[in-house]
Amino acid sequence: MITSLRLLTKEDVTSLADAANFPSIGETLRNGFPYPYTVQHAESFIDIASSSDTDLILAIVDTSSPTTILGIISLNQTKLNDPSVMELGYWLSPPYWNQKIITTSISQILRHEPPPHLCSQKMFRVEALVQLDNLNSAKALLKNDFKRDALLRHHNYSVKEQRRLDCHLFSRTVSRSDSPVSTPKQGQNLAYVRGNFVHVNGPAADIEILMDHLMQIDLTTGTIEKFEPASSAWAQTLTSKPSIPYLYKSMNPASDFITPGFIDCHVHAPQYSFAGTATDRPLMGDDGWLASYTFPSERQLSDPRLAAKVYEKVVKRLLREGTTTACYFATIHLEASLILADMTEKYNQRALIGKVCMDQNSPSDYIETTEESLSQTEAFITEVQGRDSFKAGNLYPVVTPRFIPTCSKELLSGLGRLAEKYDARVQSHISESIDEVAFVKALGYEETDAEIFRRHSLLRNSVMAHAVWCSREDLALMKAHNSGIACCPLSNVYFASGILDLNVCQEVGVNVGLGTDISGGYSPSMMNSQRTAVVTSRVANFSKGNPIDYKRAFFLATLGSARTLQLDHLVGNFAVGKRFDAVCWSVEGGGGGVDVFEGDTSEDIVQKILTNGGREDIARVYVNGKECV
Ligand code: GUN
Ligand code: FE
Repeated sequence: MITSLRLLTKEDVTSLADAANFPSIGETLRNGFPYPYTVQHAESFIDIASSSDTDLILAIVDTSSPTTILGIISLNQTKLNDPSVMELGYWLSPPYWNQKIITTSISQILRHEPPPHLCSQKMFRVEALVQLDNLNSAKALLKNDFKRDALLRHHNYSVKEQRRLDCHLFSRTVSRSDSPVSTPKQGQNLAYVRGNFVHVNGPAADIEILMDHLMQIDLTTGTIEKFEPASSAWAQTLTSKPSIPYLYKSMNPASDFITPGFIDCHVHAPQYSFAGTATDRPLMGDDGWLASYTFPSERQLSDPRLAAKVYEKVVKRLLREGTTTACYFATIHLEASLILADMTEKYNQRALIGKVCMDQNSPSDYIETTEESLSQTEAFITEVQGRDSFKAGNLYPVVTPRFIPTCSKELLSGLGRLAEKYDARVQSHISESIDEVAFVKALGYEETDAEIFRRHSLLRNSVMAHAVWCSREDLALMKAHNSGIACCPLSNVYFASGILDLNVCQEVGVNVGLGTDISGGYSPSMMNSQRTAVVTSRVANFSKGNPIDYKRAFFLATLGSARTLQLDHLVGNFAVGKRFDAVCWSVEGGGGGVDVFEGDTSEDIVQKILTNGGREDIARVYVNGKECV
């Protein structure tokens, strides 16, 4: 399956060509290859790609060093559509560059049968650089051969001269676990990112805009090792070398920006299947939103095949929207909850996942016994904590009582004990809506949700959603027990009959992050979450003097969420030592939601991106220094 598709920029081409030592290949081409071109750096690719009998170039790239090209094949259009053709084009790389004809088919290469000189390579991927003119034949070829659905991004260069650089790059990672491990060359585990960075660094919600910086990333862990202005002596020594391996280098120095990946503190993965619908009911009641839409829908995920389908879509969707970390509710089903864990691992999303627990006030076909709920939760925790991705900081189990109404006191106490035993995080819903608070009272409780959770040892490393109807004392209790709030502004509009007072939260000092609350919130985008936080704060009486602005919302969606999930040692901003989880924004061309005008300052453009930017403006998404989706 094609795992990613990205625009090939001139900088990409240049760095690929640099890394592949193209000048020397150029020499060879000039001396012995039947292309009458003067090949220099990027021009080598471009000239070949625009030659009359070449329509597609495949580059075989070393995945452990994404800028190292192992081999290049040029292909002729007339042969592209004939699968029986075995002689497709030319190897442009050693040791085959003077052997004109490839004696294997593209399909063979892409079906894990590389030519002999690549056999020792453990991981490689095949990338296709495609000219726009020939996109249709390339698409047909790739579609026929790989049956993948690739997203095609078109990009219009504003400079006429660069039009011929309008290339697209498909990539596909191939694992060859049976071949010997290649020893990484010295320096191969380091890569660099150059561009303008935007993040919040420090306690205040002040955005830092760092123009033209260079970042060094250890690709083995995705850790940021160094981060300095490109004008620094360290950066200049590196950037002056032609062979600097770039993981990403932004194309438009004035208008491209790199932000930390967004962190969704509260999202119901199974509910993605009906996101955008079911917006007409209050939360509780016999014909409310939970009873009418949510429980019947979640129940169906007892079928693992359906779970895989829904979870694959939600994980990919969130990554495309720039959500690099998500704190998920799954369903009550152990198997399906583990499938969600598998999906986040497969698509390289950092995730916290909870198997949902409910043993009362639930439909007869979507309920567990107390014992089942506890034993399945324990099984989920031990399975996840046994995985490498847990040890690597990519995946965490979360103890997940759905909310107080659906959990007996025995279940709540048992879950509290499990959270303590396994030192696991906890998530739930807390004082979400007027009808939920009334329901808890009707169950005979005299305490607030926060006090009930605390009494059952469930206020410990917890992230509690909504908290709209929490008192100041409740908030202080949460802070005292190392717990934070997932503020879900969009679903609050639908269910809560109020909004969370972020100014009071700030006064109390409790951590707050943002969540989408799919699908009580209809949008999977953390950009929309930020915007709804801004907009709703402007109509709330309490925040008239201090409404949430785009900077504070950005803080909440990044560092605020990281702190709330207790992941700020790993993510949330670009501090050295954290992981490179990032969203690369590229707005030039106006194909997305942002237009840039002469005179726009960098702060203007950042504000435009955070206010109007969308999926189409996202060029790349990285988690742990690895490109996703
Ligand atoms: N309270 C209990 N379950 C849910 C849910 O799935 N979504 C929301 N928004 N609130 C809940
Ligand atoms: Fe929720």
